Amino acid sequence: MRTQVAIIGAGPAGLLLSHLLAGEGVDSVVLEARSRSYIEQRVRAGVLEHPTVQLLREAGLADRLDREGMPHAGITLRFGEPGERRDHHIDFHDLVGRGITVYGQQEVVKDLVAARIADGAEIGAQLWFEVSEIAISGIESDAPVVAFTDAEGRRHELTCAAVAGCDGYHGICRPLVAPRTIERTYPFAWLGILAKAAPTHHELVYSHHPNGFALYSMRSPEITRLYLQVPPDTDPASWSDARIWDELGTRLAAEGFHLNEGPVLEKGVTAMRSMVAEPMRRGRLFLAGDAAHIVPPTGAKGMNLAVADVAVLAGALRDLLRGDHRAADAYTRTCLSRVWRAEHFSWWMTSMLHIFDDATEFDRRLQQAQLAYTVSSRAAATSLAENYTGFPHGAVL
Ligand code: FAD
Ligand code: DHB
Repeated sequence: MRTQVAIIGAGPAGLLLSHLLAGEGVDSVVLEARSRSYIEQRVRAGVLEHPTVQLLREAGLADRLDREGMPHAGITLRFGEPGERRDHHIDFHDLVGRGITVYGQQEVVKDLVAARIADGAEIGAQLWFEVSEIAISGIESDAPVVAFTDAEGRRHELTCAAVAGCDGYHGICRPLVAPRTIERTYPFAWLGILAKAAPTHHELVYSHHPNGFALYSMRSPEITRLYLQVPPDTDPASWSDARIWDELGTRLAAEGFHLNEGPVLEKGVTAMRSMVAEPMRRGRLFLAGDAAHIVPPTGAKGMNLAVADVAVLAGALRDLLRGDHRAADAYTRTCLSRVWRAEHFSWWMTSMLHIFDDATEFDRRLQQAQLAYTVSSRAAATSLAENYTGFPHGAVL
């Protein structure tokens, strides 16, 4: 088998790259380890930056997003001493003239798979699910080969001009590219739930509370998405639904705020880490998305970075296939400027909002000072708004 670009992984990065390449007249084949229904049900991110929404619109992928996505003009930060806890609104529209859209990552994935199929991609030809034993060779040549086993156990060889490693944090591509990673792990995790309960607040609430951080988000007029800071080794089974609602009630409490409870549809624990692989390219193998970098979820950046990488990569691969190497040679540098901005923002939001068990009195006072500054200084709030809503695609600084 032959194609121009072999794409490993059908997450947002891999599927969007395949779609953008098709728009540039470049053929690709996507190889995914999981089933189609698994990737379409996997509950993860929910916040789309302004440039992500713009790109999905320009790529003809936003019909359902424009109908069902929930545009937000800002976020709420909730904090304060007992008895003085209150909401502080960060008004993105006022501060930077743009907002964000809440739309589940699995909905983006469903839309992307549907668009590939509507475009003529066939399952078992351009889109493969449940593949295993992927082996990549020849990345230093201009004709790499990707061998894989399909769902029926048949072995195939795919010859291509370039390989895109879009296989996420646990994928096989990163070790083939990056000799080192730069990392930080955080001393806590997030317990996330999806609940059949109507949202009662029109905005996302980031709540700093002595018991730990809590986040109030949503997916639709009927579904709430909620997160709690928990110890890193937490077994989700140790949190009954009643315990979760009780703790959410405590950490999200504020005057005039009511939390609707309802059946818990999904429950999971997410580790919190920062990781950057450098470089993002070796020969004809390019990394994109979580395969190349991880951020803690507090800044809602992970999926948006994946989208920003492939927005750059699609053009770089198109040029490379025409013999122009410049954008491919600049790929790592172009992407890492945005990645490090997002790494800093995500670390900053995480540090400002969570409870650190080993914090000294001095650390706590600094955190309070930072929260107070962020909500009272227009300059500080503008910085949050600029980062949260997203920088235009391409190099950031
Ligand atoms: P993935 O979505 O991980 O896709 C990689 C794909 O590769 C997977 O389908 C996997 O099955 C496949 N794969 C892996 N190994 C192989 C292999 N060997 N062979 C073939 N296929 C393979 N980001 C945001 O922007 N906003 C948010 O609000 C946000 N919230 C989050 C909340 C949670 C609870 C979590 C867990 C994450 C959140 N993120 C958020 C991060 C976001 O979900 C990820 O950054 C995003 O999924 C990255 O997309 P990707 O395509 O790079 O990787
Ligand atoms: C969601 C996830 C995040 O990490 C975040 O910062 C905001 C919202 C969400 O899943 O809705």
